[in-house]
Amino acid sequence: MRVVEVALGERSYPIYIGEGLLARADLFARHLPGPEVFVVSDERVAPLYLETLRTALPGRRLDTLVVPAGEAHKTLATVERIFDALLGAGHGRTTTLVALGGGVVGDLTGFAAACYQRGVRFLQVPTTLLAQVDSSVGGKTGVNHPLGKNMIGAFHQPAAVVADLATLATLPEREYRAGLAEVVKYGLIADAHFYRWLGERLEGLKGRDPGILEEVVARCCRIKAEVVARDEREAGLRAILNLGHTFGHAIEALQDYRGWLHGEAVAVGLVLAAELSARLGRIPKAAVEELEQLLAALGLPTRLPKGLAAEEMLAAMGRDKKVVAGSLRLVLLDGLGRAEVTDRYPRDLLADLLAEQCAAGADPASA
Ligand code: NAD
Ligand code: GLY
Repeated sequence: MRVVEVALGERSYPIYIGEGLLARADLFARHLPGPEVFVVSDERVAPLYLETLRTALPGRRLDTLVVPAGEAHKTLATVERIFDALLGAGHGRTTTLVALGGGVVGDLTGFAAACYQRGVRFLQVPTTLLAQVDSSVGGKTGVNHPLGKNMIGAFHQPAAVVADLATLATLPEREYRAGLAEVVKYGLIADAHFYRWLGERLEGLKGRDPGILEEVVARCCRIKAEVVARDEREAGLRAILNLGHTFGHAIEALQDYRGWLHGEAVAVGLVLAAELSARLGRIPKAAVEELEQLLAALGLPTRLPKGLAAEEMLAAMGRDKKVVAGSLRLVLLDGLGRAEVTDRYPRDLLADLLAEQCAAGADPASA
């Protein structure tokens, strides 16, 4: 087992990474001081892993709620269901919520934990690649609004993250690939060596080689932990973790969160952010082509979905949380392995890029 520490003073916590951790009662016991536990999972994950987790949480009162799966259910209505169940079962401030599932369950449960009786403990038990490398770490929690992705939420750090790599074996192929988009993101923003390492291990990555997965999850968590430790509430630096996400979130919102997966939308967003960076002379054009090849080799889309108009993309991007005083800041690359959030780019260049890419149409590899 590997352990990566998120260093946040009194809110510090470990990320445990390894095979079979879901059954490790000793690990969970360290982080469950109270007498009550409330596990939230979704309808796909619960039948696979809830029983194993239950046996690792002995001697406590344990209640569960299984919510529908998918991004379309990352809503206030689902959070209300969690509150109803917690209150209905009489959970008090000493309860610990446990999020067993992907990023949707993690974001919903974390937000419920941030609000319930003004804040209770919670543990992240991520079961998708995306959640293990990204969403379970760093304390961003929340839900979507019809007008914008993740628009309602709170910063609330988990007490621990337990990432059982064995759960990735049952992840559907499309979901697994979507997680790889966030993995590529880490290389682009913070670690050129890791980015090249990924390109040299395509077969192992596609085949879910256990050794490669352990290295990938640990590397990504280390990068995220370091960024979050330096800028927990995104005063500046943390925004680099959102490379490609302003484009990606706009795609998701325009598809009513029922179209592409988050990671698929982020993959196209990475290409658009890289292309804009290249047009500004910040990275060579060849780096964009290399990125497209890597994403395509991993089975990810590199072009916008069909039917989007540049104006609606721009309008949706304008609702991003990185907008300051009406000005949209974007994360752009500064060479490979370095990124910054900036509003220093000509707006025409962004409008032209979107017009071009929207006209170019869909990537056949995508849904
Ligand atoms: P998800 O939670 O919807 O999970 C994907 C699908 O896989 C679901 O149908 C789920 O039921 C199923 N699933 C999960 N684990 C499984 C397993 N082991 N075996 C079989 N099926 C399994 O999606 P996701 O990609 O994990 O997360 C995406 C969400 O994460 C988005 O809402 C995104 O905004 C959010 N996110 C949050 C942060 C953050 O910092 N909080 C960062 C990145 C992404
Ligand atoms: N996924 C972006 C962040 O956690 O800041």
